[in-house]
This record gives sequence, structure tokens and C-alpha cells, in this order.
Amino acid sequence: MSAEGAFLKACRGQAVPYTPVWFMRQAGRYLAEYRAIRAKASLLEICRRSDLAAEVTLQPVARLGVDAAILFADILLPFEPLGLGLSFAKGEGPVIARPVRSPTDVARLPEVDPSDGLGYVLDAVRTIRKALDGRVPLIGFAGAPFTLASYAIEGGGTRDFVTTKRFMYSEPDAWHTLLDRLATLVGRYLAAQAGAGAQALQLFDSWVGCLSPDDYREYVQPHSATALSLAAEGGVPVIHFGTGTSMLLEFMAQAGGDVIGVDWRISLDVAWSRLPGHGIQGNLDPAALLGPVPTLEAKVRDILRRAAGRSGHVFNLGHGVLQQTDPEHLRAVVDMVHEWSAAGV
Ligand code: CP3
Repeated sequence: MSAEGAFLKACRGQAVPYTPVWFMRQAGRYLAEYRAIRAKASLLEICRRSDLAAEVTLQPVARLGVDAAILFADILLPFEPLGLGLSFAKGEGPVIARPVRSPTDVARLPEVDPSDGLGYVLDAVRTIRKALDGRVPLIGFAGAPFTLASYAIEGGGTRDFVTTKRFMYSEPDAWHTLLDRLATLVGRYLAAQAGAGAQALQLFDSWVGCLSPDDYREYVQPHSATALSLAAEGGVPVIHFGTGTSMLLEFMAQAGGDVIGVDWRISLDVAWSRLPGHGIQGNLDPAALLGPVPTLEAKVRDILRRAAGRSGHVFNLGHGVLQQTDPEHLRAVVDMVHEWSAAGV
């Protein structure tokens, strides 16, 4: 079976001859061939130039033998048409020049049509589909309303989400308006990516695990549901991912998504028993790739045993590939997953 078959079938919960595998952040600085492109172009330039975006999207497909490609873009790109001012400072991660800090800031946000403000990403999707030529399917993606709001409010990355939570609790009306605006934008953007050729979609709610279950339900779930129901109009499988979400899984699944992405803080079988009717993506600790191969092998085998050959498992890390990762270790994981799952380990 082609890799296209295995990944998309697993996303739909159908039986597969082997477990498909891809890695979040499989394109990036851990690859020398990515660093070579980055020496000539900034992150945002790569995103804007569809030829470069296609080149870096295909790099891990060639090098690792993964079963899916992920569009090269960034969850924060919608901040540019929203007028928030996005840049990536060397070694410091994203910087948002005009963060959203008041109800007035929320009211000022322009209406963004993704085919206009983010049309270059849709061009990249079309270019990448052509370049992939059916080898593996292409995953499109966007940031979830909460995770995007956290960057918009903090003005960059954060450990404690204090400014985000202060806004959420102090200005609940503006908070809901902000999340609703982001939800509509990313939902339409995801559907537009599917329209341009993305064969599956992933909604990244990377940081939502910082919330209590009650706060998730009150402040986030309705907006993730809006984004996911608009995304579903794209007609392709949707993966709903977060980290540190073991207390939120049922509520995330209620918000939507065919496959729920989980990290290593919960055992795969425990997560799965709580999510009837859903596929599961995960859940190797990316740090395990930094250890010796026998330890890595034991962890991969354990995940496959916990998946127990059920339909709907997409093997992945619990979060993105770390910069210090040896690509050979990722390649070894791809081979282990394919061989052992085909043999029914
Ligand atoms: O293979 C892929 O997954 C590539 C596409 C991709 C990127 N970012 C490119 C990128 C994807 C799917 C993302 C998602 C993303 N971006 C998330 C959600 C996933 C997660 O990790 O939780 C988040 C939170 C962001 C925001 C973001 N972008 C941060 C915090 C950073 C800085 C981190 C760092 O390592 O410096 C970025 C920059 C970024 N986006 C890089 C890449 C490959 C770093 C490499 C570079 O500067 O060239």
C-alpha cells in the first residue's frame, strides 16, 4: 500500500497493513539541508516563497521515509494580516510587535479573508502537492484559538500564561470576542487549505494544557468547536492536538477532530480508552530521541503495544522534534514503527 493509503486510512479509523508515522516539526533546524536554506532565507521568506516552502516540506519526506508531509508554514502567520506585527528574533522565538491587551485592541482587529491575507500559504499548498506527486499526503495546519490568543496577548512565548489568564478572567467579553474572531479565521483558513489540496488538517492547541478543565470548557471549548466545524467543511480528516491535556481529552474530543493528538504525559492506551470513536496520534517523548537507541526502541515498542493494533493509530511524537535530534534516530523510529506494526508486535 502507498504511504498515502496508510496515513489517510488511519485518520479515518480504517485498517492499515502498518502503522503510519510522521513527526511534528519534521522540517526544521535539526536537518542540515534545512539549515542550508535558512542560511539564505528567513523563516518568513521561506513561508512566503512557495518554491522554498515546497523544498523544505519535502526534505524530511526524502530523508526519513515518513508517511505524511506537513505544510511548511507557522501557526503565527495569521498575525500579519491581523496587523499584530510578527517577527522571529534570533534565538528568542516569535515577537509580536503590537500585542492584544485591551478590549479596544480586540475591536480594532480587521476581518481577514484567508484567501487574501494568507493566499501565499494556499499557493504553497498547491506547489507542494505538485512536488509531492502523490508520494505521501500533505497535512495542512493552523493554531487553535487559545494557543494563538496566548501569543497575541503575551506578545511572544511564555511559561506561565499570566498575561493571557489575566485578560481571560478580567475581560471575559473581549476574550470571547477575540477567540471567536480567531476561531472563524483559522476555521476558514483550514478549509481553504483543504480546498487548495491539503489532504488532512491539524489544529495545534499546543499550550491549552495550562488550563483547568472548567476553564477550558468555559473559555476555550466553544471556540475550538467553531474552528473545527469550519475546518470539517474542508472534507478531509482533522487531527486535534495539544500537550499536557490529560485532564482535557474528553472536552477536546467534544470540540471536534477525528484524531486526537496526545503527548507522553499520558499512556496511549489510557488516553484511547477515554476517547471512543476517535483515532489517536502520538505519543513518543521527543527527548527519547536524544537517548541511546535501545532505550528508544523500548519506548517505541511500548507505544505500539499500547496501541495494540487498533485501527486509527497515527504514530508521532508527543510534541515537536527537538533541535538537538539526530535525523538517523528519527529514521530508525520510522523503520521500527513500520516493521513492528506490520509484524503485529
Ligand atoms: O515540519 C514542520 O512541522 C514545519 C512547519 C511548522 C513550523 N512551526 C515551522 C517553524 C509548524 C507545524 C509550526 C507550528 C508552530 N509554530 C507551533 C505549534 C507546534 C508546537 O511546537 O507547539 C508553535 C507554538 C509555533 C510558534 C513558533 N514558531 C515558535 C514558538 C517558534 C520558535 C521556536 C524555535 O525553535 O526557535 C517558531 C519558529 C519556527 N517555526 C521554526 C520552524 C521550523 C524554527 C526554525 C527557524 O527559525 O528556522
